[in-house]
Amino acid sequence: MGHVPVLLDEVLEALNPRDGGIYVDGTFGGGGYALRVLEAAECQLYGIDRDFDAISRAEALAETQDRLVPLLGRFGDMDALLLNIGVAEVDGVMLDIGVSSFQIDQGERGFSFMRDGPLDMRMGQTGPSASDVVNLMSAADLTTIIRQLGEERQAKRIANAITARRKTEGFETTLDLAQCIESAVGGRRGKKTHPATLTFQAIRMYVNDELGELARGLAAAERMLAPGGRLVVVTFHSLEDRLVKQFMRERSGALGGGSRYMPEVKQGPDPSFELTLRKAVEAGEAETQINPRARSARLRVVERTTAQAWPDPVDTGKTLPPLNALEAAL
Ligand SMILES: C[S@@+](CC[C@H](N)C(=O)[O-])C[C@H]1O[C@@H](n2cnc3c(N)ncnc32)[C@H](O)[C@@H]1O
Repeated sequence: MGHVPVLLDEVLEALNPRDGGIYVDGTFGGGGYALRVLEAAECQLYGIDRDFDAISRAEALAETQDRLVPLLGRFGDMDALLLNIGVAEVDGVMLDIGVSSFQIDQGERGFSFMRDGPLDMRMGQTGPSASDVVNLMSAADLTTIIRQLGEERQAKRIANAITARRKTEGFETTLDLAQCIESAVGGRRGKKTHPATLTFQAIRMYVNDELGELARGLAAAERMLAPGGRLVVVTFHSLEDRLVKQFMRERSGALGGGSRYMPEVKQGPDPSFELTLRKAVEAGEAETQINPRARSARLRVVERTTAQAWPDPVDTGKTLPPLNALEAAL
């Protein structure tokens, strides 16, 4: 089965595409959002994905839909990717953060502990894999990753179990890792979720530098958007939603902190965005019944002002062991 797009009507309404406009889908995936936008307006759509498989799907679609332009790469580099083909400004950007069902459902991509496969987890099929992380990193670094990105309370115990087991046998498959974690934390203990859930999430986010990409993607969208253009972001994880919310509030000049006694002092450059909605949009009952994945989805949207893009990079708020150090060790 393919990928069921989440909050599709809400994304379309938030993006508000119009005829003649130029839009970017930074996470093409199965093309669910992209197709809907192309149907809604006579617009041009650049479909970015870092996954070769997703771009092959986009290329197949582009054979019959000439307003779609597939681009292989990361949305964190969207300005470079677009400038490279002569596009200097766009009217809307959408990001649907995370992995697609295509990626999870293919055991050989190694994303899921439910399917046995090589321990890979790379969306972009290049760079260090999950196997490199668990077979090469120190227990201290593994603890940091699992604690920071998985918010797993037993991070240290799991990291120690990983480094102890690889002394005798390296990790090759998703089930190797899932079983090691399960025995480290003593099984499910009546919990509904598998004990490896948070660790798998953390390693996947680390291997793909997902928070770093999100931070760069938000700033790149800010640089590319024309005044009045919308930035629409859907997240499935509280760490990501927090980052998006902080970015949108900060750059709209809507960060709290002021009070009756100590009014907020305006700091920094002029707001580069205006908040079109103060609260995140969540999926309704009807959608979560059909698609349980939608339960954790949060949509946020802002509209670009005429002010310049802020020069400062977006902070992920996390300090992780550098991924390029692992790359150098390979
Ligand atoms: C949740 S799916 C998107 C589904 C899509 N909205 C749809 O309706 O079919 C996320 C996709 O984004 C891609 N992706 C994740 N991070 C990326 C990044 N930093 N740059 C480019 N693509 C990325 C993944 O490879 C995956 O295909």
